[in-house]
Amino acid sequence: SSPLRLGIAGLGTVGIGVVKIVQKHADLLAKRTGRPVEITAVTARDRLKNRDADLSAYRWEDDAMAVATADDVDLYIELIGGEDGIAKDSIEAALRAGKDVVTANKALLAVHGQELAELAESLGRVIRFEAAVAGGIPVIKAMTESLAGNQIQRVMGVMNGTCNYILTRMESAGLPYEAVFEEARQLGYLEADPTLDVGGIDASHKLAILSSIAFGTKVNFGAVEIEGIERISIDDIRRAADMGYRIKLLGVSQMTARGLEQRMSPCLVPDDSPLGQLVGGTNMVVVEGDQVGQIVLRGAGAGEGPTASAIMSDIVEIARDVRMPVFGQPADQLTEAQTARTAVP
Ligand code: NAP
Ligand code: HSE
Repeated sequence: SSPLRLGIAGLGTVGIGVVKIVQKHADLLAKRTGRPVEITAVTARDRLKNRDADLSAYRWEDDAMAVATADDVDLYIELIGGEDGIAKDSIEAALRAGKDVVTANKALLAVHGQELAELAESLGRVIRFEAAVAGGIPVIKAMTESLAGNQIQRVMGVMNGTCNYILTRMESAGLPYEAVFEEARQLGYLEADPTLDVGGIDASHKLAILSSIAFGTKVNFGAVEIEGIERISIDDIRRAADMGYRIKLLGVSQMTARGLEQRMSPCLVPDDSPLGQLVGGTNMVVVEGDQVGQIVLRGAGAGEGPTASAIMSDIVEIARDVRMPVFGQPADQLTEAQTARTAVP
């Protein structure tokens, strides 16, 4: 049958990870989808940059718009990042040109998710974004597919690998913030603007997306109460350890009698609990459903292989022609939730 032809914009940590999987697992992907999965066009900012993959078989386009609208691209994969600008413009152009879209761009989805979902659904296209939340952990598919028979009651967890890496390495290796921050960069965890990571904003983008899926509400990033880890010192970490606790940047989203509560903040968790034991770039997402009870998903939340693995799950779904509403139910049925502020300062 006909190949699924991919166009990739953004050849950084995640983009190159996707190229490598398509090259390494071409046979596996063809068997699993019943059709060849091929890359036809790629782009990034700097054509001359040395990249850790052979791109010679693909057409280099001068910009993302050209990839998004190319006649020989069926599926546009946006891996540039950023809440506005070329990422958003190229996704809209791809949808209008009749392409489906895969992205890892949580910043974009948390802010413009509703608008993009309405556009995609009005055009009969799909946008998939498994990699946008918790990297390699298949939490979006768990919530939209496997847990579809549940009313979700609460979603919480550690959703930023950089923060978890920094907090655990500072404690275990006694290293200063600057040194572990550099290690996180080497591992490919950081956002282009790392203040999004340490400021709790990236994790809050993810929480806002999960809230929408969990509670059938419009994504409302502005309603998340956010506190990052910038003010956590090595002394705070040591004092917590002395009392048998660890500090984690924890996100919680739950529907209360007062409305939807969404909070991202550093919290003390017992050091022998599953959350306390979470080290490095690992993420953990806990979902509570009225039928299934509590589900705990744990795995690599960032980095080349894990994030590209999640992108591949979306590519395979689209190759199989699995088409579902962007946030798990039609965008025009998502409701506005009242925001419940927490008592925590
Ligand atoms: P990255 O390493 O910084 O790569 C970004 C890529 O975008 C680079 O190849 C860059 O080109 C390209 N680019 C920048 N501006 C461009 C433009 N105007 N036109 C075309 N290409 C442009 O970022 P990343 O870590 O791969 O992240 C990509 C996306 O995945 C982001 O939305 C991020 O939030 C998300 N994400 C990342 C991870 C992770 O672990 N890294 C995990 C989950 C989600 P050059 O290479 O030429 O500079
Ligand atoms: N910067 C993000 C993190 C990448 O550290 O978790 C994965 O979304």
